[in-house]
Amino acid sequence: MSTSVVPDPSPSGVDRARLRGLLAREQDAFLDRNPCSAGAYAHADSLFGRVPMTWMNKTSAHFPLYLDTARGAHVTDIDGHTYVDFSLGDTGSMAGHSPAAVTEAVRHRIEELGGLAVMLPTEQAETAGAHLASRFGLPRWSFSLTATDANRWAIRLARAVTGRPKILVNSYCYHGSVDESLIVTSPDGKGAPRPGNVGAPVAVTETSRVAEFNDLEGLERELAHGDVAAVLMEPALTNIGIVLPEPGYLDGVRELASGFDTLLILDETHTFCAGPGGATRAWDLHPDIITIGKAIGGGIPAGAYGLSADLADRLLGRADLDLVDMGGVGGTLAGNALSIAAVCATLGEVLTDKAFDHMHALAERFEAGVNEVIAAHNLPWSVTRLGARVEYRFANPAPRTGTEAAAVHDQELDDYLHTYLANRGILMTPFHNMALMSPATTEADVDLHTSLFGAAVTELVADHPVLSAP
Ligand SMILES: Cc1ncc(COP(=O)(O)O)c(C=O)c1O
Repeated sequence: MSTSVVPDPSPSGVDRARLRGLLAREQDAFLDRNPCSAGAYAHADSLFGRVPMTWMNKTSAHFPLYLDTARGAHVTDIDGHTYVDFSLGDTGSMAGHSPAAVTEAVRHRIEELGGLAVMLPTEQAETAGAHLASRFGLPRWSFSLTATDANRWAIRLARAVTGRPKILVNSYCYHGSVDESLIVTSPDGKGAPRPGNVGAPVAVTETSRVAEFNDLEGLERELAHGDVAAVLMEPALTNIGIVLPEPGYLDGVRELASGFDTLLILDETHTFCAGPGGATRAWDLHPDIITIGKAIGGGIPAGAYGLSADLADRLLGRADLDLVDMGGVGGTLAGNALSIAAVCATLGEVLTDKAFDHMHALAERFEAGVNEVIAAHNLPWSVTRLGARVEYRFANPAPRTGTEAAAVHDQELDDYLHTYLANRGILMTPFHNMALMSPATTEADVDLHTSLFGAAVTELVADHPVLSAP
């Protein structure tokens, strides 16, 4: 061990002093390697926080890398470095970057047909809805441009149809910038605002209830108040690391929701990685509403929500609900011809059953590689796979609730691994240690990660001085 060993206060099993030394070394190397990105960031005075969207400040080193080009599973930055991209736009590019079928469909619509913002539907929208219906099982679909909007509108519909005010979510869930979802469990059991919530319109406990993932007792206790319109949840948590459902949990949720006349909304935006019909089909789930976004557009903004026939009929039959004009459900550009063309191409030609077989096999390979490294160093870490998505974390056993997952977060360790990998040609999802496979990802891409992850961990635990980065 290094001479300056500090007792490790975290459960991740690493020497903090050594970790900090390695992190500083990698961040310095990142700075040296990326002068063009550093310059672009330094000059971005017109932007709020120097980035086009403030979350892009989530970086493991001093500034974000700037995109030049992207194809398939690879991106190239403006300093000319090419990376294997395991972040894939945090699922927005699960189909790979600019897949040929989507590129052609979009080009055809723009160049040959025209009509990017027209107040008329295209016939193709029926095909897009039919793709979603056959994959996810619910028969009536409506489109948005983001998953956030799909969730917002689904929530409104659930309130309208049940006449109840509240939405129940899981602690440390993420469903986009949806006010009702920014709640976590608290010691008094009432729920508390998620730390960092920006400008909440009212106290979140007025609009929401919360239960831990995998906690049926907590769910029952909250639903028993009789004021919950819908449970909005992911079939597996994916935004606080992956937290998989325990056996019987999702069946229990369905039974409790039905028992308390509460609708069940499954947000499949990320769990779509579980298979061609998401977790809903893979695990034979029976939601009343499904929301989804990101991957279905192959990189073009698209989102959607699906309803059971009964729910759709009940909503359409309500003369008091303004579903057409100012009722708060819809967006001018939602369902536009370009977005719809992209959904048809992505679901019809890119994210096929065969593509999912390939992605799942790669994810298994990725998981096995990480497991070997963890075992070789006897680290108290774990790796979790959900279809085409794999996540490693610094706890073993893997957390079973969102709160447990939040508690084992280790920012310095994340930053070290992300920067180490970026300096050698691998991009991980900035918010956690998540890797997603696309149809264009290869075994060589996965094996590169395995060997670099192994090297990064070896340096972290090895008994030699911290050297300079290669
Ligand atoms: C499960 C889930 N739902 C909704 C969203 C929001 O998606 P968007 O930012 O595209 O609106 C996200 C984003 O990460 C998500 O993970």
